[in-house]
Amino acid sequence: MSDAHLVLDPRLIVAPINRRLFGSFVEHLGRSVYNGIYEPTHPSADADGFRQDVIELVKELGVTTIRYPGGNFVSGFRWEDSVGPREARPVRLDLAWHSTETNEVGLHEFAGWLDKVGGELMMAVNLGTRGPLAALDLLEYCNVHSGSTLSEQRRTNGRSEPFGITMWCLGNEMDGPWQLGHRSADDYGKLAAMTAAAMRQLDPGLELVACGSSSASMPTFGDWERTVLTHTYDTVDYISCHAYYEERDGDLGSFLASAVNMDKFIETVVATADFVKAVKKSSKTMYISFDEWNVWYLSRFENVDKITDIATWPRAPRLSEDVYSLADAVVFGNLMISLLKHADRVTSASMAQLVNVIAPIMTEPGGPAWKQTTFYPFALVSRLARGVTLLPVLSGPTYETRDFGEVPEVDAVSTWDKESRASATFFVNRSQTESCTVTLDHAAVGQATSVTVQTLTDSDFYAANTREEPHRVHMNALEYSMEGDTIRVIVPPVSWTAVSVNF
Ligand code: AHR
Repeated sequence: MSDAHLVLDPRLIVAPINRRLFGSFVEHLGRSVYNGIYEPTHPSADADGFRQDVIELVKELGVTTIRYPGGNFVSGFRWEDSVGPREARPVRLDLAWHSTETNEVGLHEFAGWLDKVGGELMMAVNLGTRGPLAALDLLEYCNVHSGSTLSEQRRTNGRSEPFGITMWCLGNEMDGPWQLGHRSADDYGKLAAMTAAAMRQLDPGLELVACGSSSASMPTFGDWERTVLTHTYDTVDYISCHAYYEERDGDLGSFLASAVNMDKFIETVVATADFVKAVKKSSKTMYISFDEWNVWYLSRFENVDKITDIATWPRAPRLSEDVYSLADAVVFGNLMISLLKHADRVTSASMAQLVNVIAPIMTEPGGPAWKQTTFYPFALVSRLARGVTLLPVLSGPTYETRDFGEVPEVDAVSTWDKESRASATFFVNRSQTESCTVTLDHAAVGQATSVTVQTLTDSDFYAANTREEPHRVHMNALEYSMEGDTIRVIVPPVSWTAVSVNF
């Protein structure tokens, strides 16, 4: 048994928590859209063909912004294909995922679905195989009220009010050789700056995201951000980060410490952005949109290049339907802790993705929908993390890892909502052998009036929820004790815990 000590002090504010931190991502990839959120023949489908059981789960998950329609998909996407009468929409070959895209679900249908789940649309434009003109056309179609050809076309297509989309991604992972239209940082930076300036002429209130690196392990990482921001600093609001983690070579210890890597990733991008700020003598602060993050078993990923016969590229194939274990959910919950700890600079994030594809929600065609293990930390953090993030004042044991050297066994963050006098503390125990007594010292706040402790754990670190056993892993109430100004909980090895306290 080890001990960790945490101090809750509402004076130590990191930053207000932007609700956009609890965003997600829906890409036209695999069964994310078709046979995922959309399945007109399913018994629970509504009049628009959307599964209502999935809508209910998405609402319970508490996602805010949703990034759409890709991902790698966007770099070959012609947005015009996805609007207008459905029967007239083209069927296209999606080069990113070697699939057939029917465009049955397009911009209007997706925005309609978002209205049902109560989310904000974050749109990506194609800067891979297209450029500023197509981006401007899409923006006019979406955001201009009326009176121009494209805004009138939107009205004819059934949406009299503009979509009013504020956040726009300027392409996707343009540093990646796999990306259609992949280019150098210099070329992309110029293109993104030109596109951003043009889009702002139409709508100055937009919030624009330039592509950062698709991973901190890319050979161009760092220099990519510096170059892109040198071109775009004055015209964009965010630089993106993408990160996926998985257990490699059976090294669970390093995998459990993945958030150490995410912390460093964020801090490196912040330092790079601030370097460009200094060089430019700018007073503007660049924020991070962490618009793809998750656990993803890329090493198990089916190579889509094997889908070769273009005459038979499948519609909505089963791709990247990772089944998440308890250990995956503990890492996932720790990544949320990392995002919250950096709430001063990470003001938007998208868990990638939402349904069926590396997702917290799984469905079977004609069958049930269920929660993966990762559903639980996301839903709880989205519900409980209100107000501001507090600086974590934490002491506890450490352990040695192959990938990151010595790391803390316990990682934590607290949030504080002044209005409701409610706090939430989220922490992980990364130890595989030791339970940990965690003491939460709240002397700086005062008398606690109610305490709830919930933990995600399982005796089998690789236990998962499946169609056959959908409720195997879930949050459980955990006992606690109170003594003076402290709350004490004993958390098991490989666990993720949420403590909510009202004062
Ligand atoms: O989320 C799956 C894929 O991962 C996205 O399409 C791409 O942007 C990233 O490489």
